[in-house]
Amino acid sequence: MAPLSQAEASQYMYAARAGKYEDSWHPHYAERFVRIVNPHPGQRILDLCCGTGLELFVLAEALNKDGQHGDGGAVIGVDVTVEMLAVAAERQKARPELADRVQLLHHDVTHLETLGTKMSTSSAGSTAAPAPFEKHSFDTIVCSNAFVLFDDPDAVVAGWRQFLKPPVYTAATHSSTDSHEGHESHRGLHHHEPGGKLVIDIPHEAAQRSGITMERVARRLGLVFPSNRSWVTSVNSFRDVLERNGYRVERVVELDHISGKGASHYTAYQADELYDTLTKSSAFEAMVAGAGPGVERETVVRHGKPIFREEFMRDAGDDGCVFVSDTMYVYVARIEA
Ligand SMILES: C[S@@+](CC[C@H](N)C(=O)[O-])C[C@H]1O[C@@H](n2cnc3c(N)ncnc32)[C@H](O)[C@@H]1O
Repeated sequence: MAPLSQAEASQYMYAARAGKYEDSWHPHYAERFVRIVNPHPGQRILDLCCGTGLELFVLAEALNKDGQHGDGGAVIGVDVTVEMLAVAAERQKARPELADRVQLLHHDVTHLETLGTKMSTSSAGSTAAPAPFEKHSFDTIVCSNAFVLFDDPDAVVAGWRQFLKPPVYTAATHSSTDSHEGHESHRGLHHHEPGGKLVIDIPHEAAQRSGITMERVARRLGLVFPSNRSWVTSVNSFRDVLERNGYRVERVVELDHISGKGASHYTAYQADELYDTLTKSSAFEAMVAGAGPGVERETVVRHGKPIFREEFMRDAGDDGCVFVSDTMYVYVARIEA
């Protein structure tokens, strides 16, 4: 068996989590995230990796603010895991007043250019493949709690750029009256529309520590853990990714107390306990599934434990404690003019 692709590993992991995904800090976080997105009625919004639709429906509510109909805007959610989309579809049924604003699509968001082929399906149950997205057609693209699942962050943001509305500069000509020379024109004044915005969150480099440590364990065992946070070393890491792919970062908001716990520390003694918990997660199962049929789960568990301990302690300070952040960085960016 070939190793699982990123999309396959995510499907494996989230199919198992879909039923209980919302028994977590995610619903409250979605509200905080959408406040930063600040959507307005009339906008077209693309929610990539929409999952069970948590932020999707908060966005749709904002478009519906004045009970508008007609051109009140639309939110399109795209996700690769059928089981997550099924929960979103249930929510869509339960909110008929928002249903005409929301569309759900089953597709790999790292290949939006193939939307419209037979691999994409729409939640409406239609057998017809949804139409490909028009270029430069979205006011806002969001991706929450998912970006660090992707293998190649640069390629992903570079690919999404073509779907955002670009900034527009309008050359304006103003006339004024001069008492001696009559009308005078002033050329070269520019009216500027900032274009669409991209809003993406990335966990702080010291958040969700056990996952980062398990990524390193997987690498040392020649396996693949279904997340990729190796490139996140500071608040500037994702800013750099955006800037080298043609975006201007408008602001970065640091949202604290994501899980409600706040910043804390682990001690060295907790490494084994964290490891045991993580080996019961769907992320660990996805890692083992990707290893192929010759690899026994119990062998991976046994070999991984001392490596986890060692990698975990590499993050410890002089006091032997490992700092754990409870912060998410939220980036708001637009296409660089
Ligand atoms: C942690 S959930 C986030 C869901 C939602 N955005 C939220 O914040 O509650 C991550 C989602 O990313 C989706 N996902 C991961 N890789 C994907 C890909 N390549 N294409 C589409 N969806 C993907 C998973 O199926 C899962 O639903």
